[in-house]
Amino acid sequence: MKGIILAGGRATRLFPITRGTCKQLLPVYDKPMIYYPLSVLMLAGIREILIISTPQDIGNFKSLFGDGSSMGLTIEYAEQAKPRGLAEAFIIGEDFIKNQRVCMILGDNIFYGDQLGMYLKRTVKSRRGGSVFAYNVSEPQRYGVVEFNRDKEPVRVVEKPKKPKSNWAVTGIYFFDKNAAAVAKKVKPSPRGELEITDVINAYMRKGDCHVEFLGRGMAWLDTGTYDSLMDAGMFIKIIEERQGLKIGCVEEIAYREGFINKRQLLKLADEFKTSYGQYLKRIVAHEG
Ligand code: G1P
Repeated sequence: MKGIILAGGRATRLFPITRGTCKQLLPVYDKPMIYYPLSVLMLAGIREILIISTPQDIGNFKSLFGDGSSMGLTIEYAEQAKPRGLAEAFIIGEDFIKNQRVCMILGDNIFYGDQLGMYLKRTVKSRRGGSVFAYNVSEPQRYGVVEFNRDKEPVRVVEKPKKPKSNWAVTGIYFFDKNAAAVAKKVKPSPRGELEITDVINAYMRKGDCHVEFLGRGMAWLDTGTYDSLMDAGMFIKIIEERQGLKIGCVEEIAYREGFINKRQLLKLADEFKTSYGQYLKRIVAHEG
């Protein structure tokens, strides 16, 4: 399965913070925001990844990750010239996806929870046309919202409804079969001029071929779209990391634990960071004796 991280957009709601840099490079406590969605793809076992960003920002992601080989990954890059919607990612990534299945994750989505790896690996193994993850939220009108029929089966997803019919928001991680690009090409731009991801999901749903995985209350799906939620996400990560002495979204650690790189490679990465982050990576190797 291939992975796409969509890290575009202008994030005007965070101006002036995002005036000169893109949102997905902002810090969430001790690491850039994009580390978190990248770590999710890696936990799903995905190693071939395409990062899509704006022409202005793409170079910064290249500086951050290079070709990905230091973490045992293959990372490619592509530009989204204008914010024409999330579904365009499948069209931009069509050659990269090359008739394989694909998982797209938004570069500002932070997931945390004990069961996360299990949910992800189970979804990767399943052979369904599409799979999305839903999460109970207090303000569903800000998201794509799942609607149910009388039998409580999900029937469609509505983008930012004024009167949401449920509290189940569709999170920013999407799994589709090899037809994702073809389906996205058939989507018509919405009134706001974007190819909406919800239209792709609905195309799969109409065929009865999109599974909705309902994430339980033990999972955290954090928002980073406003000053306060960005700060809260950072505090959340800080509190858990300090309490446990374990890092969240630490892509170098995950690369090692998933067997993408060996001890020597992890130590080389650790040497690059003369910070407590680097020391943490060194401790992982030392503790294993
Ligand atoms: C996008 C999607 C929405 C989804 C959300 C998850 O919204 O359009 O369906 O629920 O991501 O983060 P955006 O955050 O781009 O407004």
